[in-house]
Amino acid sequence: MSVNITKIGVLTSGGDSPGMNAAIRAVVRTCAFHNIECTGIYRGYQGMIEGDFEIMGPRSVNNIINKGGTILKSARSKEFMTPEGRKKAHENLVAAGIDALVVIGGNGSFTGGLLFNKEYGFPVIGIPGTIDNDIYGTSFTLGYDTALNTVVEVIDKIRDTASSHNRLFFVEVMGRDAGHIALNAGIGAGAEEILIPEEDMGLDRLVDSLKKSKASGKSSSIVVIAEGDRIGKSAFELKDYFDQNMPEYDVRVSILGHMQRGGAPSCFDRVLASRLGVKAVETLLEGNSNYMVGLLKDEVVLTPLEQAVKGKSQIDQELIRVSDIVSI
Ligand code: F6P
Repeated sequence: MSVNITKIGVLTSGGDSPGMNAAIRAVVRTCAFHNIECTGIYRGYQGMIEGDFEIMGPRSVNNIINKGGTILKSARSKEFMTPEGRKKAHENLVAAGIDALVVIGGNGSFTGGLLFNKEYGFPVIGIPGTIDNDIYGTSFTLGYDTALNTVVEVIDKIRDTASSHNRLFFVEVMGRDAGHIALNAGIGAGAEEILIPEEDMGLDRLVDSLKKSKASGKSSSIVVIAEGDRIGKSAFELKDYFDQNMPEYDVRVSILGHMQRGGAPSCFDRVLASRLGVKAVETLLEGNSNYMVGLLKDEVVLTPLEQAVKGKSQIDQELIRVSDIVSI
């Protein structure tokens, strides 16, 4: 291992996700394993600007592998988007003797890291942490698997009551720009229809599909809607539309909201976080930077950070076909 790096800073930024703590633990302990120092940076880039730092050793991260959220807290720092903010952040890092960064977060967090690297040549490695699973260069982001399990568990419960009352439920899940949660949890929970930002299903087709469901003998239905879906109507607006135009449906709405971001990480997310955390630190120690660590075909791989930021994570079209077939 190269001896250039002596102290790594770790931060969590953007929307939190289950598994971030497991990743912090892995980063801190990998640093200890290789006899280098690790500093926790609180509240993402905002903490970098304010010098909100704490030196962390292997015992600082005891008993957090099973905890949701992030012990380092998170923020979406507007100040870091300004050159003055980044200058302050750089001065604080230099004063604290930190010579490389591990950024755990999503696309916005990586964009900030990349900018910082371009301006100050500061080594940065990204670990993808977001429940949305919308990052290029990895099949899974931290927290996605946990969020899927949470959503499926809740929709199972909604189905119980939907079925008792012969109701149609519109269930809104997170995913401002990405339909991975809606599509996968929708299939897992047996949804009749799934609306995602990547495909415009059209209101007419939705109405048609629900009419067919009813005609085929289904007494209740569940439609999973990603926040950013392309029909352009919120779950409540869709309810209004059905109330007015199809009174034969008894419609209810459930917005799952931030509960999807909390909770204990699944085993998958804990193992993923551990693998990516180790790789992030060892990549820096090998003298490499500006990469994101990710998982492709069950291998931990590196993707240039710029590519991870610019690339678009794709929806699996085959899943849409599968959903259409199994929901008839
Ligand atoms: O973490 C990503 C995400 O969960 C999106 O799916 C969602 O739209 C957004 O965060 C909500 O962010 P906030 O917590 O700032 O409301």
